[in-house]
Amino acid sequence: MVYTIQDIQEKLSVVSEDMEKYVRQNKIKVGKDGAISAKTYQTLLNFYSGENDVVNGKPLYVLNGHKIAVKTKPFFESKDQRVSIFQDDAINFLKNLPAASVDVIITDPAYSGMNQKLKLGSGKIIGKYSDAGKGHAKWFEEFHDTEENYKTFLQECFRVMKNNRHIYIMFDSYSLLTLAPVVRDIFEVKNLLCWDKVNIGLGHYFRRRHEFIMFASKGKRPLNSKSIPDVWKIKRVSQSQYPTQKPTEVFELMLKGSAEKDFVVCDPFLGSGSSAIAAIKAKCKFLGCDISEKSLSFSKERVEQFLKTNTDKYQKSSLLGDDEAMTKLFMNGKS
Ligand SMILES: C[S@@+](CC[C@H](N)C(=O)[O-])C[C@H]1O[C@@H](n2cnc3c(N)ncnc32)[C@H](O)[C@@H]1O
Repeated sequence: MVYTIQDIQEKLSVVSEDMEKYVRQNKIKVGKDGAISAKTYQTLLNFYSGENDVVNGKPLYVLNGHKIAVKTKPFFESKDQRVSIFQDDAINFLKNLPAASVDVIITDPAYSGMNQKLKLGSGKIIGKYSDAGKGHAKWFEEFHDTEENYKTFLQECFRVMKNNRHIYIMFDSYSLLTLAPVVRDIFEVKNLLCWDKVNIGLGHYFRRRHEFIMFASKGKRPLNSKSIPDVWKIKRVSQSQYPTQKPTEVFELMLKGSAEKDFVVCDPFLGSGSSAIAAIKAKCKFLGCDISEKSLSFSKERVEQFLKTNTDKYQKSSLLGDDEAMTKLFMNGKS
């Protein structure tokens, strides 16, 4: 039998540049057309599927609730071990997850493009631009959304997802124009959803009332429901204590479309933890990450309280807009 590194890349959706780097660093012998020995094949397979106890001499941390081994310790794990959150950079966090360990990705990345643009005008969406990166309470780090960085991010999303699963990525109208085509290169884009925030916000050239959500799949999977419209009328969170806190209903709707009980939901840009609350409500497990310590402490407190009391400290009431289809979906508790 002939073994090749391409077999592993295909089997586990490993990003080829990553594997080439690993092969170079570990001086692994690769023959013509990527041929490797049976022993090397097994070593690489174990490494990329996270089935080894030790990687480069460092022990793996086993998330029992998820039955997976990861390379970094979580910042917080719930008592029932179904919710685990990490303080890390999104790409690094995803790289540390085994391949095919996630069922649904629901995420709202920090885009730098929109903020750079607004810097030129007088509008600012989240705190003072000059405060960025200084650890000020109101500001958070940006994710550098160059096409190259974004491609790496999406390739990692693809690798950690199981086959025949869905991904939802939120976009402002500025980042959508440059980055949406990158999504199409990696995933099968199925639709562009519109979150209608009901009330108008800031904006120079028409005031903003919406955000986009790209809905895509890895492989084939039907939606759980045929009665969810593609415009979602949900009011924004007013006076949120974490900048850019999104209503849980936005994430709840994603999961109504794509999750089953005990699915592993992942959000690599956790923010205030709204996606984690939505995952718990949908009876799913959750893996999340954010680079900011403020996000982690905020989300930990929010999740712990929700698990204990079934109340959400940072979103006390429903933000559903006046829309019959939406109300029905939430009232029936059906998808
Ligand atoms: C738009 S907010 C997410 C808001 C969240 N959906 C909510 O409802 O609260 C983006 C988040 O990405 C985080 N972030 C910025 N750069 C990051 C990076 N490189 N890796 C991971 N998280 C990052 C920020 O700290 C911020 O919390």
